[in-house]
Amino acid sequence: MPEVFGDLNPPPRLLMGPGPINVDPRVLRAMSMPMLGQFDPVFTGYMNEVMALSRQVWRTENHWSLLVDGTARAAIEAILVSLIEPGDRVLVPVSGRFGQLLCEIAERAGGDVRVIETEWGTVFSPDRVEEALRRDRPKLVAAVHGDTSSTMAQPLDEIGPLCRRYGALLFVDATATLGGMALPVDEWQIDAAASGLQKCLSGPSGSAPITFNERAVEALRPRHHIERGIRPEGMAEAEGAQIRSNYFDLPMLMGYWSEMRLNHHTEATTMLYGARECFRIALQEGLDARFARHALVGRALVAGLRAMGLEIFGDIDNKMVNVTGIVIPDGVDGDRVIRAMLDDFSIEIGTSFGPLRGRIWRIGTMAYNCRKDAVLTTLAAFEATLRQCGYCAPPGAGIDAALAVFREPDAG
Ligand SMILES: Cc1ncc(COP(=O)(O)O)c(C=O)c1O
Repeated sequence: MPEVFGDLNPPPRLLMGPGPINVDPRVLRAMSMPMLGQFDPVFTGYMNEVMALSRQVWRTENHWSLLVDGTARAAIEAILVSLIEPGDRVLVPVSGRFGQLLCEIAERAGGDVRVIETEWGTVFSPDRVEEALRRDRPKLVAAVHGDTSSTMAQPLDEIGPLCRRYGALLFVDATATLGGMALPVDEWQIDAAASGLQKCLSGPSGSAPITFNERAVEALRPRHHIERGIRPEGMAEAEGAQIRSNYFDLPMLMGYWSEMRLNHHTEATTMLYGARECFRIALQEGLDARFARHALVGRALVAGLRAMGLEIFGDIDNKMVNVTGIVIPDGVDGDRVIRAMLDDFSIEIGTSFGPLRGRIWRIGTMAYNCRKDAVLTTLAAFEATLRQCGYCAPPGAGIDAALAVFREPDAG
């Protein structure tokens, strides 16, 4: 008898880390719908609906608003490897691990990467970005909106216009903010952006929304090679350098997502159903109401933690509303607290990376888990766990302070 192990029986966790979060049951339901072939007219109809829905979530008129099959990193890679030709200058403002990830991907794409850095827990002023634009004259600026590693949200409204002024394209990694914090792509003059479902969109990881505008398409056009065997008759071969990845070749993805439906990969039907439902949920709630909910719940969490005598990490004015960093008090074993939260309360929280590994905890309040009850449960468990680990907060103070925020007249 071959060993087949037991039925899957994962413990019911409350996922309050920096993502993934618990998936909305509506999304799981959508993902259990019957399989369709990727050229079935019903399915390609759903693809068009996904484009229309995602445009609204991105707040853009960009025709090219679609999904990359893979996690958020796949979407980032698709955009960077397609836009960057070997030798192209790329400017990356780095304020955390995910800025570093953009550097790494841009370098692999052959980019001549120029980095500006700021301490983790701070953000860039537009002046600093402008200075680098003036000095380096990049083809592309690649920036992170919410860098979950540092919990900071980089203000971007002035960066897009600056990039235009200096002739650069602007790419934004919005993995951790799309659906939770405002990111009006067109208004902020963002040329391309990538995200994932597993943070503020209530879905699982594995499908990654992207959007890009005509400026980006213009940059891609010379590299629009089409695979042998599917190139329509009469269509000339492109003359620019071939994109170095087949799977992440944006012009080929455009061919599949266009009415030509040129064969590329086999679309992940189930993930597309899930993404479609994520977008519907966000739009039915209303984006502004959703942003306000994330801001309120984030504020309640911060109030609760502060009332427990804990210090919030980083520049509070530029903190992501949906991820909170907490400085681990001296003498407390951060990993033990994380472990005890999981073992005793089945609640997941996280630490961070690099210089912040073991220095902060991170608690996320996103999408399906961005709820009053989830925050209160987490605060109660956190207080008890910290006590077990040698840090005694004033009993009940965290819950009381969070509840007070939820009772404020404008709390909705
Ligand atoms: C800001 C940011 N960018 C990119 C990623 C990578 O996303 P994924 O793990 O879905 O590839 C993450 C994941 O946590 C993230 O927080």
